[in-house]
Amino acid sequence: MKVAVLGAAGGIGQALSLLLKTQLPAGSSLALYDVAPVVPGVAVDLSHIPTGVTVTGHGKDDLAEALTGCDIVLIPAGVPRKPGMDRSDLFNINAGIVKALVEGIADHCPKACIGIITNPVNTTVAIAAETLKAKGVYDKNKLFGVTTLDVIRAETFVADLKGLDVASVHVPVIGGHSGTTILPLLSQVEGVSFSDDEVASLTTRIQNAGTEVVEAKAGGGSATLSMGQAAARFCLSLVAAMNGDNVVEYTYVQTDDRDDAAFFSHPVRLGKNGVEEILSYGELSAFEQKAKEDMLEGLRGDIKLGVDFVAG
Ligand code: NAD
Ligand code: LMR
Repeated sequence: MKVAVLGAAGGIGQALSLLLKTQLPAGSSLALYDVAPVVPGVAVDLSHIPTGVTVTGHGKDDLAEALTGCDIVLIPAGVPRKPGMDRSDLFNINAGIVKALVEGIADHCPKACIGIITNPVNTTVAIAAETLKAKGVYDKNKLFGVTTLDVIRAETFVADLKGLDVASVHVPVIGGHSGTTILPLLSQVEGVSFSDDEVASLTTRIQNAGTEVVEAKAGGGSATLSMGQAAARFCLSLVAAMNGDNVVEYTYVQTDDRDDAAFFSHPVRLGKNGVEEILSYGELSAFEQKAKEDMLEGLRGDIKLGVDFVAG
């Protein structure tokens, strides 16, 4: 298994690379790519950790070598938010970065599974899809928006509120990855009941959790460590599924369900070739149904922005 991290010298990239160096199966290789000159040093640093994972570092002119032979490519390259910004404010810089990197994937490892972390995810995933289509190599089963951070946050907040062991708490989160497009399905948390006030306040906290970190970091960026953990969980699930395990993760994929949006986070059964099956997210409560209906137009607009960007 070869995994590449594009943007590997950044806050997420370094945390994620550390987790992958220590948790990928022995025999895997990990290629770290970044335009920042420190990336070869990050690779040397990680290479001193005694695991069976080989690490290589690749600077800005070395994308081809980083990508060749990859099974999975994770993209956290791009700028993060500062206080007062929405994720959509990152579009102007990050759209072009994602497009260029995905063109590289199309050229050098067109069959790889791609996990997009770069914000605004609602839009950058559509940019990746259109870029791959333009190159004639799009496979909707191999493109994922990584929304695992919303899931791990929701599980942490529910466990804290209810005094539960977080390992036993599972919270579905559907929709997209910004503001009200993040829709936790608290009505489906097994064995736990919530008052209406708890549902309203927990939903808002999960939707604003990224902003909570951005404000606490006070200009120093957004979530990096929790995101590193979330992306590592997603990548390791994909690796396990590619090796034959039965794994389901919530992730933002092309659904073709025109009642929702062209891309929407669902529970997805992963397999050897990426998406094995997109599962239903089940019955929604009246609160969740209304929240979904209220956010769909915004999510569709975010997706259209990405499609229009690539169309020029
Ligand atoms: P960061 O600034 O710490 O790191 C970004 C890295 O990307 C830097 O090392 C930079 O050199 C690199 N980079 C920039 N342009 C590049 C290019 N063309 N090719 C390769 N590398 C390039 O930022 P961060 O905190 O790691 O966040 C990265 C992105 O992830 C941001 O857009 C942020 O909003 C997003 N993010 C997403 C989620 C999520 O849930 N999906 C969570 C947190 C952050
Ligand atoms: C998050 O949810 O933490 C990320 O999308 C980063 C951000 O800008 O909030």
